[in-house]
Amino acid sequence: MPIHFEPEEQLFHLQTKGSSYAFKLVHGYPAHLYWGPRLRHGPGIAQILQLAERPSFSPNPVPEDKRLSLDTLPQEYPQYGTSDFRQPAFQVEWPDGTRIAELKYAGHRVEKGKPKLPGLPAVYAEPGDAAETLVLELADESGLRAELLYTVFEDADAVMRSARLINGTSLPVNVLRAMSATVDFPDDRYEWLCLSGAWARERHLSRRPIGPGGTRIESRRGASGHQLNPFAALLRPGADEDKGDVYGFSLVYSGNFLIEAEVDQFRTTRVAAGINPFEFRWRLEPGEMFQTPEAVLVYSGEGLGGLSRTYHRLYRTRLARGVHRDRERPVLVNNWEATYFNFNAEKLEAIAAAAADLGIELFVLDDGWFGKRDSDNCSLGDWRVDGRKLPGGLDDLAARVNRLGLQFGLWVEPEMVSPDSDLYRAHPDWCLHVPGRRRTEGRNQLVLDLSRADVREYLFRTLAEVFSSAPIAYVKWDMNRNMTEVASAQLPPERQGETAHRYMLGLYELLERIVTAFPGILFESCSGGGGRFDPGMLYYMPQTWTSDDTDAVERLKIQYGTSIVYPASAMGAHVSAVPNHQVGRMTSLEMRGLVAMGGNFGYELDLTKFTEEERAQVRRQVALYKEIRGLVQQGDLYRLKSPFEGNEAAWMFVSPDRREAAVFHFRVLAEPNAPLGRLALRGLDPLRDYAVTRVVTAEGGADGDRLAETPVGVFAGDLLMQAGLPAEGFAGDFAGVLYRLRSAD
Ligand code: DGJ
Repeated sequence: MPIHFEPEEQLFHLQTKGSSYAFKLVHGYPAHLYWGPRLRHGPGIAQILQLAERPSFSPNPVPEDKRLSLDTLPQEYPQYGTSDFRQPAFQVEWPDGTRIAELKYAGHRVEKGKPKLPGLPAVYAEPGDAAETLVLELADESGLRAELLYTVFEDADAVMRSARLINGTSLPVNVLRAMSATVDFPDDRYEWLCLSGAWARERHLSRRPIGPGGTRIESRRGASGHQLNPFAALLRPGADEDKGDVYGFSLVYSGNFLIEAEVDQFRTTRVAAGINPFEFRWRLEPGEMFQTPEAVLVYSGEGLGGLSRTYHRLYRTRLARGVHRDRERPVLVNNWEATYFNFNAEKLEAIAAAAADLGIELFVLDDGWFGKRDSDNCSLGDWRVDGRKLPGGLDDLAARVNRLGLQFGLWVEPEMVSPDSDLYRAHPDWCLHVPGRRRTEGRNQLVLDLSRADVREYLFRTLAEVFSSAPIAYVKWDMNRNMTEVASAQLPPERQGETAHRYMLGLYELLERIVTAFPGILFESCSGGGGRFDPGMLYYMPQTWTSDDTDAVERLKIQYGTSIVYPASAMGAHVSAVPNHQVGRMTSLEMRGLVAMGGNFGYELDLTKFTEEERAQVRRQVALYKEIRGLVQQGDLYRLKSPFEGNEAAWMFVSPDRREAAVFHFRVLAEPNAPLGRLALRGLDPLRDYAVTRVVTAEGGADGDRLAETPVGVFAGDLLMQAGLPAEGFAGDFAGVLYRLRSAD
């Protein structure tokens, strides 16, 4: 039983395999006690709370207990205005304009499994999972109520938290702030880790100490964004990849978010995660409920590596859904960097034919197949095939691709409209806009107002028609700009502050309808690469295009950073042409192939332009990836060397039974007279012996086409982890090596 309640001490203790989370009631306030390594459910937990009388600048809400001030009490869901001066978890505005509310314990219940969050993506429990949910009921004297949800799975060191605000009064109230979770840590000896970047440079690691005042990351773009991912962690100084305490906060949401850490006067740290209160205002009518998105809190005592593996398993198996969740993902070729908008059916068929010959399984037709879209300045919204390019339609092209033995996939960007489109001419009010003001364009397009039911209905019908018009096995769902003039023509003035969140709810509703209507399609989300690479999208689409930057060297950092939270099965990774289209760099096909094998593998170049030698190498790469994709997509990831710390990067994937592993090792720049190094491996069975081989796709085996595997030796698992594998030298700049490990018995 992972959730304990001790009525006498009013203590709640949530246990997972390796962690504990505890709080108790103090004069009805839920007071945070502990989050960290698993505790025995023994005596004393409720007594660790320290209270002391403080100067009058920390006022006392309970007159007879001067030791109690909300300014010093660690809390589960704090409020502003009744003695806590730190950032609150929630704030509501009453009809008279005042903003004081005080939530206190009103009851609780424990439910088996995990309830769905209405309208929102969330981690789910399957029948048979050892999962329980605590619903902590709180109430204000006005009738406003809250429910705090805490779900724990016995075998994952995670706590899923969210909150519901329920208007039990007889008048409307405005919710100004409703965070998903806050945690009050007992001290400030932490560092802050987040994933930051820009378009084509997403999710680089950023680590810095926290200090007095606030440390925050947020999005105000109407999407989670390329710039800051909805994830942050507190790390004890000294915590690294393999050891030390790490506390992760990952928000299952794709819109404006805020995660902040506030260090107060007593050097305690409050972390809050949720919808960004910036530009947010939600009118709650009597009887209505507001459900926040879910925050997934993960504790790891095994450094960042342990944290990542917990997120990976949870997000791979209990956030991603559908028939493709556990299936091996196909090797694909995408025509975007091969042709951009300039293609016809013959050109596409030629690429597909080349792909078929190389063992590639899926052909994806990217942007430019509809309307009169010869560039990015028109036609979004007009989802009718362009007869000039594809006279036989999608069905004919798909049939030609299928005849070659490949599945057919298609790109769409449904959330957008081009001003030069029939849709916009017919419905100029269907986009986000402020009447009478300029409509700011990005990539020559505007954002459709998905808070509107009529817009969603149109999109569902149009997309359903497209997806049924041909045997479509895969869809890439793109989104290429952020929101401006955030207002909806259908919302009354007092509800305009709801637009951005209503957009997300609308998007989620549309996605739910689409994935339900087309359960066989493998969906990949995309936003100019990784501009919406977040857990919310993963609930609907099990994979995401990681970045528009396909350069192998840039990808080392992008994929390494992304892997802090997201599993390899979520990351699209393609081999593209050189000189690279984003940075102009020349890298070998070997390097590009090995880097892309760290995710869902594919090609994004004109395969018809390859030489015979290159084609043979691609054939070997595809064959190799098919052999190891089970490991990559479903195995455990161990990061070995960080590209943010030096000239090398390395990571490995280990099978769940630890009998097999694939180790990728990269060096960026050549070093003269380089030292000989060993690569310390992780995650192996120390008692097992492993036969290690080196695989090179640049060279053929005996018959020229088969993979060349060179034996390196047989090594004990403990030796490989403690002393390390004698690493091969590298030749030249931008080099990579792959080792395969197989249990020797
Ligand atoms: C942005 C995506 O990230 C690219 O992969 C490609 O699909 C283009 N959009 C097409 O416009």
